[in-house]
Amino acid sequence: MSKQVSSGGTPLTILDAVDLDIAAGESLAIVGSSGSGKTTLLSLLAGLDLPTRGEISLAGASLTALDEDARAALRAGRVGFVFQSFQLLAGFTALENVMLPAELAGLADARTRASAALERVGLGARLEHYPAQLSGGEQQRVALARAFCGEPAILFADEPTGNLDTATGARIIDLLFEMNRARGTTLILVTHDASLAERCARRVTLSGGRLQAP
Ligand SMILES: Nc1ncnc2c1ncn2[C@@H]1O[C@H](COP(=O)(O)OP(=O)(O)OP(=O)(O)O)[C@@H](O)[C@H]1O
Ligand SMILES: [Mg+2]
Repeated sequence: MSKQVSSGGTPLTILDAVDLDIAAGESLAIVGSSGSGKTTLLSLLAGLDLPTRGEISLAGASLTALDEDARAALRAGRVGFVFQSFQLLAGFTALENVMLPAELAGLADARTRASAALERVGLGARLEHYPAQLSGGEQQRVALARAFCGEPAILFADEPTGNLDTATGARIIDLLFEMNRARGTTLILVTHDASLAERCARRVTLSGGRLQAP
């Protein structure tokens, strides 16, 4: 699978013939230097973006054959995503941000689940705060709570500990691997954090848009 974009009229290859198989229940770290294509790869794997060449399948369905609505339906209730830039909704409280996907998925107990998820990331006392009233690390933890609140089968996270101190980061890492162990949640993590990459069962390295031989 490859991804090309046009940058000021010049074609730019961001991902070049990347071939990757990820099994259900696996934990995988995607590592590599800044600009190597990690975020692009994560968005493609999650069906948030499409490759310009090649195929991507998610949960047995070919993403490239589906339109945007069908891809969204495939993601709903199955995929959790933590963005590098969090992407919290500014006009909604922490609780509302976390509740939203569960509500959209039609879960009756969305509020209870959301407050439990925020409790688990140590933000039980910040439910009514708006993103602008939260620190960077707190926003990152809200984004994590939102991603796992609906108990997704696959959790994609882009630098999930990037804004956290060592102790808070370690707690979040424990939480992710507890989900992997107890519920079989597939973890696909982009990280510069060596201790997080080490915890994953498998690591792949991107370099200039290419996957390095293991
Ligand atoms: N839409 C786009 N148009 C043009 N170039 C892009 C686009 N998206 C990404 N790029 C370029 O593709 C490369 C890979 O970007 P990507 O965000 O995937 O890197 P990354 O490995 O996640 O980096 P970081 O560790 O800094 O987050 C970068 O050089 C970036 O400038
Ligand atoms: Mg990135």
